[in-house]
Amino acid sequence: MPEMPEDSGVTIEALMDEQRTFAPSPSFSAQANISSPSIYEEGEDYVSFWEKQADRISWRSPWSKVLDWSNAPFAKWYVDAKLNVTESCLDRHLETKGDKVAFYFEGEPGDTRTLTYRELYHEVNKFANGLESLGVQKGDRIAIYMGMIPELPIALLASARLGATHSVVFGGFSSDSLRDRINDAEAKVLITCDEAWRNGNRIALKEYADSAVEECPSIEKVVVVARTNAEVAMADGRDIFYHDLIATMSDEKEATETDSEDPLFILYTSGTTGRPKGIQHSTGGYLVGTSFTHANVFDIKDDDIYWCTADIGWVTGHSYIVYGPLANGCTSVIYEGVPNFPDKDRFWDIIAKYKVTQFYTAPTAIRTFMKWGTEFPERHDLSSLKVIGTVGEPINPEAWIWYNETIGKGTCPIVDTWWQTETGHIMISPLPGVTTTKPGSATVPLPGIGADIVDDEGHSVPLGGGGYLVLTHPWPGMLRTIYKDPERFKETYWGRFSKPEENKWVYFAGDGAKRDTDGYFWLLGRVDDVMNVSGHRISTLEVESALVDHHAVAEAAVVGRNDAITGQAIAAFVTLKGNVEGNEMLLQELREHVATKIGKIARPASIVFTDELPKTRSGKIMRRLLRDISEQRKLGDVTTLANADVVREIAERAQNQASSQASQE
Ligand code: PRX
Repeated sequence: MPEMPEDSGVTIEALMDEQRTFAPSPSFSAQANISSPSIYEEGEDYVSFWEKQADRISWRSPWSKVLDWSNAPFAKWYVDAKLNVTESCLDRHLETKGDKVAFYFEGEPGDTRTLTYRELYHEVNKFANGLESLGVQKGDRIAIYMGMIPELPIALLASARLGATHSVVFGGFSSDSLRDRINDAEAKVLITCDEAWRNGNRIALKEYADSAVEECPSIEKVVVVARTNAEVAMADGRDIFYHDLIATMSDEKEATETDSEDPLFILYTSGTTGRPKGIQHSTGGYLVGTSFTHANVFDIKDDDIYWCTADIGWVTGHSYIVYGPLANGCTSVIYEGVPNFPDKDRFWDIIAKYKVTQFYTAPTAIRTFMKWGTEFPERHDLSSLKVIGTVGEPINPEAWIWYNETIGKGTCPIVDTWWQTETGHIMISPLPGVTTTKPGSATVPLPGIGADIVDDEGHSVPLGGGGYLVLTHPWPGMLRTIYKDPERFKETYWGRFSKPEENKWVYFAGDGAKRDTDGYFWLLGRVDDVMNVSGHRISTLEVESALVDHHAVAEAAVVGRNDAITGQAIAAFVTLKGNVEGNEMLLQELREHVATKIGKIARPASIVFTDELPKTRSGKIMRRLLRDISEQRKLGDVTTLANADVVREIAERAQNQASSQASQE
């Protein structure tokens, strides 16, 4: 069995103990979109399965072939078919669902807006016309850096309407991160807002955008949505307010025809190097995959009110706030802010207010709610809920049970959904009307999806064993490449376990997993140098690069350590340059430096100054040892180290720091 991360928040031992099972109730199954396990047999012939699912969306002209895998690992789905995704998400709903609400928007300060499908359609058209008037054409890249307001999905859809490629950068990222992503994508236009509301504070997005754009030669225009109406600097000839741009635009816009394989978006994510990867998604396959999974994993009905709490800056928001739900003509809630503004019951207040039927959130959030206590959900009527879901990281059985009892009141199936930015849509998850769930397990691959667990040599591990999670055949929403880097795409995902000489292609997800004797998958966290902090992917190397970018730092090593709430927390070990003294002020400065370089999500939870880093004789930093130190585990064998003494000293300092932090708290 390969080395498993001990910091995944879930240990194999804990999972092995988990015996409880939860079968769907007969009444739930009776009304479910999918209630027969025969769907899994249907999915075995995955090509014809996904051909059948393609009818879920509108095509302008059909495919000549469902899947072209002849140039593996570069896939083509629904080959030669033409469409524009916005016609599936908007136009086709006008006749039957024009007056149906697409989005209920709940602003953090308490303001609200409602957009029907017809209103959304007109807004998208106006903005698409506006963007076209700024010179945007099919194939151009548009960068988007905004808070969670209705103009954010409108921006994605307007880009798609024109056949342009959007690249959303999460609003919590720093100027530098935004700049690097814009430059990699060579975006022509940036869409941002004046400010965003977050935890009662105003976040100066336009200011951050301005400093980024100073070093982005490809940006010709910046469109600014007025969210708070703050005074912001507007560069003459470059910047234009959204409301001014659309004021004179027609609310009709013929959608640009795109090929099924044309790129719909790029979304940057962390890999094992310091440089984020531009994950490139397609048009036709992506929409089929998100539509099918959204409808069936959440068991969506026509009068449901669905709420996914993710930010549209992440893939979960792309697939399960924008494209999946809109393709399905579903009513969604969009909430702008944090769960504890103005009080710790905001989420439950929103569920009761809109009578939310499906609620989709992250295990980190659930663990935080547990910590806050049941009094907050108990203030509100949550009886509208039918299905509740989780995504982004393993959920520990304790949090699962709490979610089931306190939020689901024991009557809502829980869908623990495993997937990635790269997979585009949910891959391993219960079907709520079919699957018996087990707390902490994402259960089994969805119909039409192939997954396995393999050992170091790529051999399938028998039931009951653990290893690496792999995907065994292509699926419609799969990433098509890494933007401008097909070699890295091939190597990162298909290099490890594929056998090109036998034409056998296996996708390596980067996750460790175990399969129990019933064939259920238990995800155990990343097996590479990628951390998962509150469901956000951050590479250790990115944080290390940000630290060594500081003038006082000679060398840095970063590891993810176990954290009861955030899953993992970032622990940094820093060696300072010769004449610099490590004190509390510098420690805070370094944490801020990382926040400025990458974003607040990457700010280290702890930094320990060390004279040296523990290295093997070949000079490799011993991260595993640093993880042991961070988690205050007994240290194992250090004889392979070049500098064994250093370890004891670091451990002592880390211990002192931990106890001084504990006494401060
Ligand atoms: O390690 C897995 C974890 O999140 C990674 C993907 O992160 P990202 O691309 O940011 O997408 C997150 C939202 C889809 C995976 O490699 N992960 C995601 N969902 C789960 C999970 N780990 C365990 N259980 C899950 N349900």
